[in-house]
Amino acid sequence: MKYDFDRIISRSGRYSIKWDMMKRRDGKPVGPEVFPYSVADMEFPAAPEIQQELRKRIDFGNLGYYSPRDPLFSAFAGWTERRHGWKPDQEWMTLVPGVVPALYTAVRAFTKPGEGVIVQPPVYQPFYHAITGNRRRPETVELKKGRTSGGTPCGTLSYTMDFEAIEAAAQKPDVTMLLLCSPHNPVGRVWNREELARLASICDRNNVLVVSDEIHCDLLFGESRHIPFGTLNSETRGKWVVATAPSKTFNLAGAVTAVTVIADENLRSLFAARSALDSGEFVNLFGMTAFEAAYRLGEPWLEELLRYLEQNRVLVRDFFARNLPEIPFSPLEGTYLMWFDLSPLGMTGEEQDRFLTDEAEFFLNDGRKFGNGGGGFERLNIACPRAVLEQGLERFYKAVRKAGLA
Ligand SMILES: Cc1ncc(COP(=O)(O)O)c(C=O)c1O
Repeated sequence: MKYDFDRIISRSGRYSIKWDMMKRRDGKPVGPEVFPYSVADMEFPAAPEIQQELRKRIDFGNLGYYSPRDPLFSAFAGWTERRHGWKPDQEWMTLVPGVVPALYTAVRAFTKPGEGVIVQPPVYQPFYHAITGNRRRPETVELKKGRTSGGTPCGTLSYTMDFEAIEAAAQKPDVTMLLLCSPHNPVGRVWNREELARLASICDRNNVLVVSDEIHCDLLFGESRHIPFGTLNSETRGKWVVATAPSKTFNLAGAVTAVTVIADENLRSLFAARSALDSGEFVNLFGMTAFEAAYRLGEPWLEELLRYLEQNRVLVRDFFARNLPEIPFSPLEGTYLMWFDLSPLGMTGEEQDRFLTDEAEFFLNDGRKFGNGGGGFERLNIACPRAVLEQGLERFYKAVRKAGLA
């Protein structure tokens, strides 16, 4: 291994959102050995190649106005072509200060107050904020949850889209947009071509614009392949919005730089005009530097990261299979966020919350925050050194035994 993913770093006291959120409900301090497994960033430093480019910027010293759009866009186009077989035209791209800001802008640019926007919960919470914060109406179509018997004693969960319900929602005259999470946070699905094509046709037939958040698209396991929504041209007739960023792939969320891809000229100019009003024409110089470095130089680091995360994924799966086979979880096809159902342990939501923070000191994301279908569930971020993951799982299991829950 060229890169060290085993090194343990505490981010306590450095304004990390994930670490600062880690508080016991009874007010007692959390021990220094306790790590959080919540917010979707990684516990690994950025690739040395990216750090090096940032250092060069600092060494150059002049931090005035810069706008190196073409090199950024060509780096991104090269990346998506190599990794996902899609080479979007550079003309179609706009830089934005994040995928979430892009969702907000898209809602404002393409829908009117009061209109309905389809979301498929359980889903990443800011999808709701982008809709309700702009005084639009979430039209919720819950994912369908099934059970499969996987290769482990655990009953694994399988999530699919509810196409009939999506069609019924899309037919409502005031429903004009669908926010797609592809791959899906938190259930870890990587939607296949057939599913996406079916979704695209439903939306096209009903004049519903799909805005596809593809921020997790490089974090894939096993046979999973990401299908960029922009490749579904026969179903969409070129009308779609894709938003993505290197921030999940390369742990650059703090660099706040993302890209939207919009092929349709009319949609693109509406988006650009709205984006200029929302967030101005410029993005952060360090963000741009990190963006380009990631997409040009980051591939060897990502390959090793994916191998490391795959082993973490297996570790968690085997842990549940061995110790708590009654806990169903969603097999991770993509993202580094594992989704599992603690309701077989028989706690109320309040009890579960208190048990995890106070007894187990296992800091996860409460599934209820992801909307319908999230009750009883927890989301576990596995992007951390393996020893840290082992430690958290052990602490959790010990607390489960001590409380006589299993
Ligand atoms: C699906 C999804 N979209 C967007 C984001 C955040 O995007 P950004 O930091 O670029 O606004 C996240 C972060 O967890 C996410 O999971």
